[in-house]
Amino acid sequence: MTAQIVLITGANKGLGFETARILGRDGATVLIGARSAGAGEKAAAVLRGEGIDARFVRIDVTVPESAEAAAERIGQEHGRLDVLVNNAGITTTDASDPATITPPSRVAPDLVRAAFDTNVFGVVAVTNAMLPLLRRSPAGRIVNVSSHLSLLARVGDPSFHGPNLLPYNTSKSALNAVTVAYARELAGTPIKVNAAAPGFCATDLNGHTGVRPAAQGAAVIADVARLGAHGPTGALIDEDGRIPW
Ligand SMILES: NC(=O)c1ccc[n+]([C@@H]2O[C@H](COP(=O)([O-])OP(=O)(O)OC[C@H]3O[C@@H](n4cnc5c(N)ncnc54)[C@H](OP(=O)(O)O)[C@@H]3O)[C@@H](O)[C@H]2O)c1
Repeated sequence: MTAQIVLITGANKGLGFETARILGRDGATVLIGARSAGAGEKAAAVLRGEGIDARFVRIDVTVPESAEAAAERIGQEHGRLDVLVNNAGITTTDASDPATITPPSRVAPDLVRAAFDTNVFGVVAVTNAMLPLLRRSPAGRIVNVSSHLSLLARVGDPSFHGPNLLPYNTSKSALNAVTVAYARELAGTPIKVNAAAPGFCATDLNGHTGVRPAAQGAAVIADVARLGAHGPTGALIDEDGRIPW
């Protein structure tokens, strides 16, 4: 069997890097999407040192041309893509320090725009660029890395005391809607489109205040990437399985 071709955006560190490590250990060729060539090459070299077939691919998800150029290169080198993990994401506040969290009433619209640029519009740009390659796979998989903070029923519950990060939380809610929209279009094809909620993991995103190791969250993302033919599409999945949007 030929190796799976897996592209992960924002794979130079954090959950994306650990997901690349897990899927690379499965035998996949992992394409390390990163906006910085230095960081991307370095991450790929670390994984190659572990015996994983890892290659850097430059993608800044906020620059659609970079996704299109990456798709062209992947098409030339591999002819198809089996798994796309839309992992690159930002928060626009220092979520590690509740004192720095800007309440919604004082959030500048530009901050919301910045979060949506990466976390939502970036996913649309990369997905649309990669879909022709995913259609050439016998079992294409798209995994959008969401968050429990996207869940309106959860964050809207008076008993919820997690961070009220308007730009981040609303961008991840929109990402969930984006996931369902693609799943609807691609129903009836072999491509499955799901969202993964990795849980609160220690990464640069939260100043390493997350309570679980990045590898544990990455395992959730990897499991969604590995879903078989009978797995769901248009679902949100965390470590306990499918959960309500
Ligand atoms: N950590 C958690 O607790 C947690 C929980 C739920 C969901 N998530 C989600 O998991 C994903 C990964 O986050 P993380 O925790 O691993 O954070 P992280 O360590 O800060 O990694 C984020 C990655 O995204 C990349 N990135 C940001 N903007 C980009 C752009 N415009 N183009 C390409 N890459 C870009 C970063 O690249 P640079 O190095 O160049 O900045 C980095 O590789 C995010 O979508 C996040 O929302 C995280």
